[in-house]
Amino acid sequence: MASYETLLVERRGRVGLITINRPDKLNALNIQTRAEGAAAFDEMREDEEVRVVVITGAGEKAFVAGADIAEFEGRTAVTQRDVMTARSLFTAVDTFPKPVIAMINGYCLGGGCELALSCDLRVASEAARFGQPEIKLGIIPGGGGTQRLTRLIGEGKAMELILTGDMIDAQTAFQFGLVNRVVAAADLEAKTMELANRIAEMSPVALRMAKEAVKAASRSNLDEGLRREVDLFALCFSSEDKDEGVRAFLEKRKPEFKGR
Ligand code: COA
Repeated sequence: MASYETLLVERRGRVGLITINRPDKLNALNIQTRAEGAAAFDEMREDEEVRVVVITGAGEKAFVAGADIAEFEGRTAVTQRDVMTARSLFTAVDTFPKPVIAMINGYCLGGGCELALSCDLRVASEAARFGQPEIKLGIIPGGGGTQRLTRLIGEGKAMELILTGDMIDAQTAFQFGLVNRVVAAADLEAKTMELANRIAEMSPVALRMAKEAVKAASRSNLDEGLRREVDLFALCFSSEDKDEGVRAFLEKRKPEFKGR
């Protein structure tokens, strides 16, 4: 794995772990962190050993406390637009072909919440706090928050978070459907890695098709989505993994998927 200044990147078996490592700034996303994050996802995309990626924040306090507000000062609208239309970390995560799990250990705010929303699954510590506080700075979410949050939890709840900028605790985030699971802080890593390892045992081909099919649901109408699902389902039939999965079931043994 390459080394990065703002990230720790490692592979644990079949799981790639990316840790945003600016704990003194609550892992706020500056330009360098975003660029390195996108590069780390590119690296993990190419690494066939990596089947699932977990992303988290360093330290006890924060997953990511948002965009680095210090970078906003004095920035013109044109520069800001250029920064945001460059290939973003959120897009790198959203278009990543393997499952990505956000392991949310603390403050998950603004761009941090948007980063978590770009992931496929979210596991939160009971100490985590969520919010889209941009409105308090006189701005709005710009990393997909108004769109992905609304699609995930519905307009009313998204509107409340975005218009008030209020934080919610992990249990409320769970009730809102913003996170998949809430676990004790001490168990966060073990439970997240257990989930990641379980998914990593599945066929990488099928995981990729499943992810693409589910994402099509919020990006197309029902007829288009159903057609897409059939195409992706049929594509699985071209994989050795499908032959292995079916054969293993019939032979009453555990399948060994190769990603082909
Ligand atoms: N951008 C830049 N720096 C940030 C940051 C951000 N989004 N969030 C926290 N930091 C920095 C603080 O400036 C502080 O740096 P310093 O020690 O050099 O002064 C350090 O991280 C610790 O944060 P601090 O505010 O002292 O911690 P706290 O426990 O008192 O408060 C928060 C925690 C999360 C409530 C508070 O940091 C906060 O409101 N952060 C901004 C959240 C936000 O608006 N995000 C959306 C941005 S669009």
